[in-house]
Amino acid sequence: MRTKPVCDPRSIFFDSIAAEWDARQDRPDLARDLDACLAQFGLKENEVVLDVGCGTGNLTVALLRRLGPAGRVMAIDISDQMLARAKGKVSDARVTWRHASADRLPAADEEIDRVLCFSVWPHLENPAAAVTEFYRVLRPGGFLHIWHLISRDKVNRIHQEADPAVQHDRLAPVGETASLLKKNRFSMIAMADDETRYSITGRKEELSS
Ligand SMILES: C[S@@+](CC[C@H](N)C(=O)[O-])C[C@H]1O[C@@H](n2cnc3c(N)ncnc32)[C@H](O)[C@@H]1O
Repeated sequence: MRTKPVCDPRSIFFDSIAAEWDARQDRPDLARDLDACLAQFGLKENEVVLDVGCGTGNLTVALLRRLGPAGRVMAIDISDQMLARAKGKVSDARVTWRHASADRLPAADEEIDRVLCFSVWPHLENPAAAVTEFYRVLRPGGFLHIWHLISRDKVNRIHQEADPAVQHDRLAPVGETASLLKKNRFSMIAMADDETRYSITGRKEELSS
């Protein structure tokens, strides 16, 4: 199901690199590292999780390892080719694949327990609109994680040398990203910005009675 045509020019670029995306990952222990992150986040087995910018589905696979039979993943991406690779890799009824952008999510209000933005945040065309959407689809008390398994400097260096479509995609300092989340009524749970990772966890505030 397509929610709306995605006009982001990055989709053409990501389509063009989908076939080689997995081979480009110079991280032999990616699966183990993702498992460790999900454990650290405290992901429970019956959650409904949104995988934003799922790419070829590497995080989706890790999520399925951790979720139980009642758990669900909605995996979205603006690149048809990335989604095609992911679908080829993962055949599991717990996953719903959607061609959609983070700033217009194909999810109902408060349907999601946890939003995961893994290695996608700097590419979002409209991060403010995406945060508004994350807030809308998360249940009160739900979590938002924005993270990379490399430092902010390294992410930005990689993009600087990349294709013009993503050359200007910059990862902001962790405090700046946290401010955007706070402005949108997320509480800050954890922040890290060091040589090995960039990671922010926010929580949608519970409604006070
Ligand atoms: C750097 S890749 C990372 C893919 C995957 N998360 C991984 O780590 O292997 C970024 C992905 O985000 C997708 N993407 C970019 N902008 C997006 C947006 N606004 N909404 C949803 N997905 C987006 C791209 O198509 C691409 O597949």
